[in-house]
Amino acid sequence: MGSVRRARDERYTESGIEVKPVYRPEDLGHFDYAERLGDPGEYPYTRGVYPTMYRGRPWTMRQYAGFGTAEETNRRFKYLIENGQTGLSVAFDLPTQMGRDSDHPLAAGEVGKVGVAIDSLLDMRELFEGIPLREVSTSMTINATAAILLLLYQLVAEEQGASPEEITGTTQNDILKEYLARGTYIYPPAPSMRITTDLFAYCARELPRWNTISISGYHIREAGSTAAQELAFTLSNAMAYVKAAVEAGLEVDEFAPRLSFFFNAHNDLFQEVAKYRAARRMWAKIMKERFGAADERSMKLRFHTQTAGSTLTAQQAENNIVRTTVQALSAVLGGTQSLHTNAFDEALALPTERSARIALRTQQILAHEAGLTGTADPLAGSYYVESLTDAVEEKAWEYIERVEELGGSVRAIEERYMQREIEEAAYRHQREVESGERVVVGVNRYAIEEEDLDVELHSVDEAIREKQAERLARLRDSRDAAAVERSLGALRRAAEGSDNLLYPMKEALASLATLGEVSDVLRGVFGEYRP
Ligand code: 3HC
Repeated sequence: MGSVRRARDERYTESGIEVKPVYRPEDLGHFDYAERLGDPGEYPYTRGVYPTMYRGRPWTMRQYAGFGTAEETNRRFKYLIENGQTGLSVAFDLPTQMGRDSDHPLAAGEVGKVGVAIDSLLDMRELFEGIPLREVSTSMTINATAAILLLLYQLVAEEQGASPEEITGTTQNDILKEYLARGTYIYPPAPSMRITTDLFAYCARELPRWNTISISGYHIREAGSTAAQELAFTLSNAMAYVKAAVEAGLEVDEFAPRLSFFFNAHNDLFQEVAKYRAARRMWAKIMKERFGAADERSMKLRFHTQTAGSTLTAQQAENNIVRTTVQALSAVLGGTQSLHTNAFDEALALPTERSARIALRTQQILAHEAGLTGTADPLAGSYYVESLTDAVEEKAWEYIERVEELGGSVRAIEERYMQREIEEAAYRHQREVESGERVVVGVNRYAIEEEDLDVELHSVDEAIREKQAERLARLRDSRDAAAVERSLGALRRAAEGSDNLLYPMKEALASLATLGEVSDVLRGVFGEYRP
């Protein structure tokens, strides 16, 4: 029998919050239910944003998917829908995210790799062929080129006959976290924020049910932050977006109801539940007290969750099914609106159909067999969870105040304050794993000599770049070159001025201008960001 040595000191969470052996009523102090919690669907929404939560409608099962050509990804989308998925979520390849067409020299080796290659309206049509966009909401993980992909999506939905109110989904469009943690930015911060707020204004007028931004903590946590830092830096970025939109002349209740969030579901289940509950209460107060929101929809923090990719292990990879289940449970107990569960083989390759199905079945078991949908916020009133919700909130405010002392998120990112905090937390975590203080089952404890994983892994068709290049050549030969030139000229003039960019951009994309051509027009006006 291996000794079950005491691992990392269990008296503290990784956010540095003390964990007591027992919690009692006195730990909650004077507990004002209405002020600290409110009922589900009531300010400050600590218990959830809807009165009935999952009893009214289960969370959306929204599996992130995308690789290769639009046809290949379209097949995976249909497979997931056939297996019960209730929302779409598109992963784009790096050239698409970085505003490069598949035949650009810088796209070599990346076309179709981490997501689907989208160069033009023709690819977007194929991506959603046979999928009625008026009946499904679609999330698109796209940031620097979010406006382009939103407009391509709208063009395809309109071709299918969808009305503006029937076009529903989300663009991630969170450029600040790209400077902070993920890296797929193109332009300097100021023009990037302008594109972001132009998209807010465009959707307020043209696509009233589109969630314009998914302010993301996921990648901040994946970069190594603690739970409290993930919450704090996400809300700091959110405040920067609201401030920028108000300064651009938008009324807060005109755009804030369509802001959304995206968090990580990491290890330490109770701290994750506390994080989501604190997030709702903090955002409600920020919007009401700091930005003067009057529409309650502006105060409701609606969020998507993805289980933590960084916790997946290549060793004994099937163990990841259990990790993902526990993490998904924290998101459900914490009241997520939408959920992605990682596939067990994702530390090794993109998911296969089989591993993607298991990931989806995990959600379906939680939704149908675990008794989790009958009542809202079931952990409310727990001496521990309420104390931990307060403690996570308190820690997050400390970080937010530090960011504000520096002048807000944009300045804090330029000063590299957030990056340093994340790097230090990541270093502490890695040191604990290497010392064995933090146990990773199958990796630094309970390891086996010979890995016995016997599953087929996903592979990407290497010929995809040639296929995309041929499509682009045919497109450029067949389109009305003069119309493309005229529309790109109009976009350039809008970028040089202050008109909303999305209107001329939509015209250009409709005339079959490519994603790379549109992005190059903006590069010519805004320049590229070189940190
Ligand atoms: N009672 C009444 N109405 C209810 C209800 C209830 N209990 N539950 C839901 N509803 C209604 C809602 O009001 C909504 O209607 P509306 O659009 O008119 O308001 C409708 O039902 C849909 O409900 P939600 O909006 O709560 O759920 P959605 O799934 O549609 O939206 C979201 C959730 C968080 C608001 C949205 O922004 C979303 O889907 N985000 C997903 C983001 C995502 O998938 N990101 C993936 C990123 S992958 C990535 O970056 C990682 C990679 O880099 C590695």
